[in-house]
Amino acid sequence: MQIAIDGPAGAGKSTIAKLLAKKLGFIYIDTGAMYRALALKALANGIDCDDTEAIVAMAKSSKIHFTNHKAIFHIYLDNEDVTDKIRTPEVSRYVSKLASHPLVREIMVEEQKELAKATAVVMDGRDIGECVLPNADYKFFITASLAERTSRRILELSKLGHNIDYEELKDEIAKRDKNDENREVGALKILDDSIVIDTTGKSIEEVLAEVSGIIRE
Ligand code: DC
Repeated sequence: MQIAIDGPAGAGKSTIAKLLAKKLGFIYIDTGAMYRALALKALANGIDCDDTEAIVAMAKSSKIHFTNHKAIFHIYLDNEDVTDKIRTPEVSRYVSKLASHPLVREIMVEEQKELAKATAVVMDGRDIGECVLPNADYKFFITASLAERTSRRILELSKLGHNIDYEELKDEIAKRDKNDENREVGALKILDDSIVIDTTGKSIEEVLAEVSGIIRE
């Protein structure tokens, strides 16, 4: 069984996807973390995100893998655990541009398809329903108002020790959404078979119950 969860930044996709995977006993795969890991490496190596050739070469030669011990997701880049390092504002600023390279997406999508072959998965991202798991049993599009998504991200980042200005972050998220929605390949969009869930004003428990209810039906 395959469950695809797409949606804009900060909509609560990963929280719901993790809880759902735990509940169903499936593997959770955070595809955004894969793009973030590449962004981290590019930043560390001073690679300009407009340098397509260097970015693609780096993506080809990078080894990304996950562990899912007791539903806790860890991502490794070239065997180093980068789970926390990929959540910095710097990586967030860089990643959307990196993810717009069609060849980088091709490499990532192939890896993601391969990961989903072996086992039941809940996968979250932007192009999962369209490109990675086009035959998924369920395709959820999880969204929320920009204001609420910004507040959630502020909270998440403050837990990691980053103090960010609300208006600045709001503009950044809006810009990232625009990039994700308008790129040539793998753009974020609601599909004909998407089940849209607006999480504005809803608790995690409410959203999880809604999603689980749809799957049970
Ligand atoms: O879900 P996230 O915010 O961690 O994703 C980070 C970035 O990666 C985001 O700007 C969009 C991009 N991304 C993508 O293009 N395709 C995916 N399947 C997942 C994420």
